[in-house]
Formats: sequence, structure tokens, C-alpha cells
Amino acid sequence: MSPERVVLAIETSCDDTAAAVVSESFDVVSSVIHSQAALHSQWGGVVPEVASREHVTKIIATVRAALAEADVTGEQVEAVAVTVGPGLPGSLAVGLTTAKALALAWDKPLVGVNHLEGHLFSAELRGEQIDYPAVYLLVSGGHCLLAHATARGEYRLLGQTRDDSVGEAYDKVARELGLGYPGGPVIDRMARSGTDTCAFPRPMIDAGYDFSFSGLKTAVRRQIERDETEVNDLAASFAAACMDVMIAKLERAIAELAPASVVVVGGVAASPILRERLAGLSDRVQVRLPPLEFATDNAAMIGAAGWWQLERRGASRDDVGIDSRLALPFATGAAVS
Ligand code: KG4
Ligand code: ZN
Repeated sequence: MSPERVVLAIETSCDDTAAAVVSESFDVVSSVIHSQAALHSQWGGVVPEVASREHVTKIIATVRAALAEADVTGEQVEAVAVTVGPGLPGSLAVGLTTAKALALAWDKPLVGVNHLEGHLFSAELRGEQIDYPAVYLLVSGGHCLLAHATARGEYRLLGQTRDDSVGEAYDKVARELGLGYPGGPVIDRMARSGTDTCAFPRPMIDAGYDFSFSGLKTAVRRQIERDETEVNDLAASFAAACMDVMIAKLERAIAELAPASVVVVGGVAASPILRERLAGLSDRVQVRLPPLEFATDNAAMIGAAGWWQLERRGASRDDVGIDSRLALPFATGAAVS
């Protein structure tokens, strides 16, 4: 058992059934993830009905495993943190209902956590410090946004995608190529053996902080239909276009906002290609990334955000519900104070 106080965290917003025990200093005492990727791969994307049914069957074993690995009983946790949105409604409902039942049985506070805020906290797991002001790039399957934070939890939105997220573009390109789901890891692997020969567009690269990736996805599809490019070169060309856009936006934010750190989170932050490109920024700014295993969806990040939320905003009410379209709590006004 950890000498520190711990929370149990549960995450079921999409296709991973996850539970973790996280200490007050954001140490990950245990983290268990049951991935459904193999189940959904045959359809080239997540099937919501299948995902929620799978969560129902796996959630209890996942929670049991996280508690056992941490050598903690339900009575010893300070609170139960759980993702309440955004995400797939049926999937979110399984996690929230389970968390409510446990909080009731153990007589502990329940903390409903925003999945996106969880990703932002993933870079602080294992006690990593972030210097503020910070620019956050959140790039996952469902989201693609840039935010400026003057302090932990004080975010202002700089820009976001007008259509697809980066991860979604990776997944759709992988589906076109018949490479299964998720697309990120396999396309990155192929890109490493290829060359950027296609000169794909870099959408909105010079236009402020917003993103657009659906045009790029269409350009890749046309190139696939022409059937004249080797698949590794296609992957390398697509990945290079995504990377160039993300790096250009961060370069702009560094030049205009002079942050102390750049923090890149979300599933795409697992990309070794992106990690290499980000290293090129580190002579000017502190670059922070989540530990590799906590870039994609996990419950440890929900535990860290849950601790912070419990302290800052208090426990959630008994009637808290899911919100499949929940947004980050952005402050309004200019990005620079
Ligand atoms: O954060 P996440 O696990 O789930 C959401 O909240 O959406 O992100 C999943 C996304 C998928 O689109 C997947 O293709 C992408 O992250 N991804 C990657 C890599 N690993 C996962 N993208 C690029 N390179 C990777 N190595
Ligand atoms: Zn996520």
C-alpha cells in the first residue's frame, strides 16, 4: 500500500477499459488497461455498441486488478475519480455507473473528470513538473486543439480543428489502406521506412492556430486510388504533412506567446516521429510529454486530474451524469494576460 493518500480512477470513454490507483503526488501506483483494439480492428474503427458491451464485461475485473496491483482496498481510497465526458455515451455510462456504485458502497466522494483535462494532466504523471505559462497541444483520436495556460488548470483556447483530428486522419488513412485500427502506430512504423515523395498539402499551416486535416485525408485517398506510390512512401508523406502542421503551430505559439513550456498530450503524442520533431524545440522551451504508456487513453491521467479537481472544485454531486460532448473549462479573453 502506498504511504500517500490515493484515489481509484476509472476511464471508459471510448474503447479502452481502464482503472488506476494514483497518489496525491501523481505517482501511478497501479494502472490496468484492457484494450478493445483487436475487437474493433476488423471494422477499421470503434463500434460504439460493441465497445459499451465489452466495458460491461471487463470493468469489474479491471478495477479488481488495479486495486490488487496497488495492494489497496476500496475502504483505503480517498475518492473514486471517473471520466464523465466527452466520449461515447454508452461507454461513459458503464464507467460512471460503476464508479457511483463503488463510491456508495465504500462511502467515498465521487469525482467526475473531463477526459480532455485528464490528457492535459497526463504530462504531470510520476511527479513531472510543468513550468508556466505553458502551451498545450492535445492531439488524440477525438480532439485536436491548442491551449495556453497561465497556471495549472487555467486554460485559454488558442485554436482547434475545423474538421478531423490528427488521430482521426491517421485512422481513416489506415482504413483506406486496410491496415486495421488504430492507424497511428502502424502508419508511423511504415513511415519510418519510407520517404516523403508525395508533397501532400499542409492544411492551414500559415493560418493562425486552427487546424484542418480532412483535405489532407482526401489528398491521401486520391493518391491511394492512383496506385502509383509505394505504401511506405505514402505513409511517410502523410505523417510528414501532419508533423509539419503541428510543429508550425507550436513554433508560432512559441514566437508569439513565449511560453516556458510546450506540453504535447493525447494518443498522437505516442508517435516517435512527433517526439523526434519536438526534441528540435527543446533548445528554446521546456518540452513535456506524457510517459509513453500514458499518451493513449488510460485511467492514471484521470486519477491525476481527479485529485486536482477534488482539491479545487470539490466532489461531484450524486446526480452527476455523462456528457458526451463535454468541453474543456476554458477561460474567455485574450491568450496572454
Ligand atoms: O488519446 P487516445 O488514446 O484516444 C482519444 O481520446 O481519442 O488517442 C487515440 C488516437 C488514435 O487516433 C491513434 O491512431 C492515435 O491516437 N495514435 C497515434 C499513435 N498511437 C496512437 N498516432 C500517431 N502515432 C502513434 N504512434
Ligand atoms: Zn483520449
